Amino acid sequence: MRVHTILASAFLLLASWPSSTHSASGRRRNTLWRGDSIAVEDASGDVLVSPGGNFSCGFYKVATNAYTFAIWFARSADATVAWTANRDAPVNGHGSRAGFRKDASLVLQDLDGRVVWSTNTSGTQADRAQLLDTGNLVVADAAGRVLWQSFDWPTDTLLPEQPITRYKRLVSASARGLLYSGYYNLYFDSNNILNLMYDGPEISSNYWPDPFKQWWENDRTAYNNSRYGSLDRHGAFSASDQTQFNSSDMGEGVTRRLTLDYDGNLRLYSLDGGDGRWLVTWAALPRACDVHGVCGRYGVCAYLPALACSCPEGFVASDAGDWSKGCRREFDLRCGEPVYFAEMPSVDYWGFDFNYTRRLTMETCRQICLDDCNCEAFGYKMGTGECYPKISLWNGGAPNINQNIFLKVPTRVKNLSPAVLDFHGHACTVHEQNASVVSASSYFHVRGNKINFVYFYSFLAVAFVVEAIFIVVGYLFVFRADPAAGRVGDEEGYALLFSQFRRFAYDELSDATGKFADKVGWGASGTVYKGVLDDGRSIAVKRLDDLTQADEVFRSEMSMIGRINHMNLVRVWGYCSEHSHRILVSEFVEKGSLDKALFGGDGALLGWHSRYRIAVGVAKGLAYLHHECLEWIVHCDVKPENILLDAELEPKITDFGLVKLLSRDACGRLVLSRAQGTRGYIAPEWATSLPITGKADVYSFGIVLLELIRGQRVCDWVVDGRGGDDDVVVWLRENKRMMNLDLDDESSSWMEDKFVDPRLRSDFSHLQAAAMLELAVSCVDDDPNRRPSMNVVLEKLLSLEDDTPARYA
Ligand SMILES: *[C@@H]1O[C@H](CO)[C@@H](O)[C@H](O)[C@H]1NC(C)=O
Ligand SMILES: *[C@@H]1O[C@H](CO)[C@@H](O)[C@H](O)[C@H]1NC(C)=O
Ligand SMILES: *[C@@H]1O[C@H](CO)[C@@H](O)[C@H](O)[C@H]1NC(C)=O
Ligand SMILES: *[C@@H]1O[C@H](CO)[C@@H](O)[C@H](O)[C@H]1NC(C)=O
Ligand SMILES: *[C@@H]1O[C@H](CO)[C@@H](O)[C@H](O)[C@H]1NC(C)=O
Ligand SMILES: *[C@@H]1O[C@H](CO)[C@@H](O)[C@H](O)[C@H]1NC(C)=O
Repeated sequence: MRVHTILASAFLLLASWPSSTHSASGRRRNTLWRGDSIAVEDASGDVLVSPGGNFSCGFYKVATNAYTFAIWFARSADATVAWTANRDAPVNGHGSRAGFRKDASLVLQDLDGRVVWSTNTSGTQADRAQLLDTGNLVVADAAGRVLWQSFDWPTDTLLPEQPITRYKRLVSASARGLLYSGYYNLYFDSNNILNLMYDGPEISSNYWPDPFKQWWENDRTAYNNSRYGSLDRHGAFSASDQTQFNSSDMGEGVTRRLTLDYDGNLRLYSLDGGDGRWLVTWAALPRACDVHGVCGRYGVCAYLPALACSCPEGFVASDAGDWSKGCRREFDLRCGEPVYFAEMPSVDYWGFDFNYTRRLTMETCRQICLDDCNCEAFGYKMGTGECYPKISLWNGGAPNINQNIFLKVPTRVKNLSPAVLDFHGHACTVHEQNASVVSASSYFHVRGNKINFVYFYSFLAVAFVVEAIFIVVGYLFVFRADPAAGRVGDEEGYALLFSQFRRFAYDELSDATGKFADKVGWGASGTVYKGVLDDGRSIAVKRLDDLTQADEVFRSEMSMIGRINHMNLVRVWGYCSEHSHRILVSEFVEKGSLDKALFGGDGALLGWHSRYRIAVGVAKGLAYLHHECLEWIVHCDVKPENILLDAELEPKITDFGLVKLLSRDACGRLVLSRAQGTRGYIAPEWATSLPITGKADVYSFGIVLLELIRGQRVCDWVVDGRGGDDDVVVWLRENKRMMNLDLDDESSSWMEDKFVDPRLRSDFSHLQAAAMLELAVSCVDDDPNRRPSMNVVLEKLLSLEDDTPARYA
């Protein structure tokens, strides 16, 4: 056997590929004939290209010096891979070859001649390997008979007309940007149902279609055992079990792919011909937390609005860099020792119930779990009395209405509150040590004044509607957000959900603000007061005086705002909606607004480095609003007054989402009428009938950037004898070309004279200032389409980071 392999390798080395006489780089070909090969050294030049040019096949770099043999979308900006021959065994970046051998097989060889992968066609009449317009790589004979095709060996992606069948499954990649096999599978189960399954090292768990329902309730059929499904050219997918879904941009002539992504969601994508980016046009799971296995054992998934995993109290993350490894107990649980049950409110762990009974009292349910040493916890639903004793805790999710988990904890572990497993520490402080479950009434007593449960309902309803809209619109930015990046600290996630965002009573706010005594600001939308909550947190309380919305409307919109969480956005902690009062409660940001720091004569001058960091922070906040969070949140009123600075001078944008609240339809054209004093920040399209998009914020950001550089309001500038409001911007646009020339000239003081704050006394980075100025000018372009997106702005700013020597601080 071994001798065989060695001989084979030796033979290959000797026979080698008859050099690359006709593997000419750059020449477009779509076929390898017998004896032809591709060398890894020429990975960029020597590739097969489908006749229409939509697909390429060749060596694809996966890491430094590591390559796979793959097919990718030639017209996608990031060369998205559609198929990989050797996803789990990459080959060396030197000496590896892929070729169609004389024995009729397509073979991939590593540096040492070892065959890493091959088609099963040796000894057949096959004479070519050909990349077709469909993205299918076929090995065929002279008569055109296909003896092998890549379509039969899918990896994580199905292309139109590539079927998924009885013997094939899609397996996700293991992480973003990697090709290695991960734990998620799409396959036909033994009931003939097309399923998504987490198939991890410890457990397997199906999560799509809805695992709570039987197949008939999910509109599937188990009676057709042909087990076949495919996506057609129009963007419609159908399978033998009656799975049916459509791309939101149905029609021919669009490049599409159906990919089981690394995060376990199955998504249908369409390629935007313009910029080569993918748009999501359908997704199996609107809620990312419904994917099983994401947070591992004991981990609890929450959606904030990016996905976040956390561990319950008494547990720590096994591997902070890899949440699929979940959490581990900080205590052990021995059989027979005295225990109590710690409650995790509004949490459910899916599956692993060893008994399920309805209409039990909680005491009975508790007893069942107590009696069984393998029982780790039980879930209990008030009302229906559903009891789920669990032998293992996986797929935790929150918030989960009506369902609470009661975790078995040894009595010797004293630090877990038996009443409420509180993830934040200060919201609920019931510390009785009692080995019995707190009764329902006291549970609601404890929680009742802290969390409005109606809020959870509206939270979920709104979340669902919004996510449904994303799919229809075909733009699932939330899913593009990297879950790893979104995984906030263990406690933070829960804190946000359970302790921080909530409804306040009017009396409570009246007390906190000393009957609205300490007025700290006036904005277009209302008056702001400072206050202090019982727990010591300083708050800013904004009375939205002109709001007339019905309570439910206001509440649901507030819950949307409550889900927004970013370090450069002012954190909204809650709201009050009583009688005619509509009040917003947010964190109090110490240093007040940017206009005071930048234009105000009093206080220390903002140094160059601080200004740069403020620009970056504001760009991050806006990019989050536009791209990561909820696309339709256009701020509409970006100006220094709405940028607050904390003690470290980190900027936090305020008043986001409010404009939408104030005027639903037109993204607040009323801003225009209200904002006479600050007209300079408003994009020209406000005055026309053009739609208002995120690009309006980009314009305003451009103005703020100019002001950060200059330390003066744009409307007060005088350039070449022109000044006031829009004039400066017009001048900038007209002189853009001239400026570009000049900006490259390091020695020029022209820019410094005209645009940089003289108070800095030349203590600034010339390079940064020049680049920021250039960026600002592109942001204030007349045509919204020519302005960069906030993501691009942010990237550009971040690329300047290296040029801030400490001396500019
Ligand atoms: C290539 O893709 C474009 C859409 O991106 C499509 O219109 C065109 O028909 C495709 N070409 C071929 C040859 O399939
Ligand atoms: C080729 O494929 C056939 C059927 O799929 C299989 O029986 C055979 O073992 C394969 N041979 C090799 C060398 O993989
Ligand atoms: C089973 O599914 C296949 C593929 O979707 C379809 O062609 C066939 O008609 C179905 N059979 C029955 C009995 O519905
Ligand atoms: C998908 O589109 C087809 C028409 O092409 C329609 O018959 C079908 O009902 C649609 N399915 C869904 C789930 O919208
Ligand atoms: C499940 O619980 C019920 C109610 O206590 C009990 O009668 C039954 O024996 C239990 N079943 C198992 C398998 O433990
Ligand atoms: C524990 O609960 C029992 C009854 O549920 C009660 O009598 C007892 O006083 C409680 N102990 C403490 C320390 O609260």
